[in-house]
Amino acid sequence: MSDDPTIRVTTFENAGKSSRHLVMPLAGNESFARLLADAEGWELGAVETRSFPDGETYVRILSDVEDRSVVFVCTLARPDAGFLRLVFAADGARSLGARSITLIAPYLAYMRQDRRFQTGEAVTSRSFARLLSSSFDRLVTVDPHLHRYLALTDLYSMPAIALQAAPLLADWIATNVDNPLLIGPDTESEQWVAAIAAQVGAPYAVARKIRHGDRNVDIELPDLSRWRDRQPVLVDDIASSGRTLIEAARQLALRGLTLPIVVIVHAIFAGDAFEQLSPLCRRIVSTDSVSHASNAIALAPMIGRALAGPEAVGGGNVRHRCPPEPMDEVDRAGVDSFPASDPPSWMGGVERHGD
Ligand code: R5P
Repeated sequence: MSDDPTIRVTTFENAGKSSRHLVMPLAGNESFARLLADAEGWELGAVETRSFPDGETYVRILSDVEDRSVVFVCTLARPDAGFLRLVFAADGARSLGARSITLIAPYLAYMRQDRRFQTGEAVTSRSFARLLSSSFDRLVTVDPHLHRYLALTDLYSMPAIALQAAPLLADWIATNVDNPLLIGPDTESEQWVAAIAAQVGAPYAVARKIRHGDRNVDIELPDLSRWRDRQPVLVDDIASSGRTLIEAARQLALRGLTLPIVVIVHAIFAGDAFEQLSPLCRRIVSTDSVSHASNAIALAPMIGRALAGPEAVGGGNVRHRCPPEPMDEVDRAGVDSFPASDPPSWMGGVERHGD
């Protein structure tokens, strides 16, 4: 707790200790945190962060966290810039007597660096998990990219809850799209897309994807001719470089299908990805795990329920996409030459052309 009495007078909410969670947004996460606090009747707190002239980070906890269950809200898209202030805030709250410290990261970064793809690379998913686990007591996230890890607890040493947005995506499609055909962009997404399609009551198809580099992706669509009268809906967990969806939308256009609707969980949209994808689509819709113009599906109610309910104590963190290639096949291949997010050629059934 600060020694400066004016801080307590001007900034603390002196309503007495509460068993309710104290929701603390890091910069840029205020709207999400307010939705969460409003949905569950939790108290909204505040953290001040800024940069010193030399570029170092200043953090000040503006709420009374002593003996409170503190919930920091910080999506981890573009994590490098905000990581230190997040860890400083958590450590600050702990040193001020917080009873427990939870991180709600609707998007969890560094999950795709889950293997040493080239000699000498750092497996940053593990480093990131170790660093976060050392400052927080619990993690809640949505659809982390569990590809080569079976569960978040394979790399996070704190209890971790991975919620699934698929039912929310399905609800949105069922409500907003007439006569849809769901399309997943790669074979590993099949069981995820199938589950959404079943909830929507629509047919689905999956493409095959081969990635040659960060921004170089080939998509091979299956025969979609019997569904020509349907509205294609491309569903995916992440739009990062956007190349997967851009290429899928281009292939649909080449087949003469209607412009697709794109429905995704995490709208990262690096660089000009959104500008390039937009003209190829009828509409692009995302959850609000990352603040973006395409946000249309709110996650706060689901996260609030999970944190308030019994399932919050554990479980629910396992992979829901198809299992990745067996590790022995990867090892037999000798070189780790395919990017983190995509299966190697023996999974896609299409020859690679080299990176
Ligand atoms: C792959 O396994 C993921 O589900 C996404 O398809 C992929 O991460 C998208 O990446 P990008 O937008 O860079 O093509």
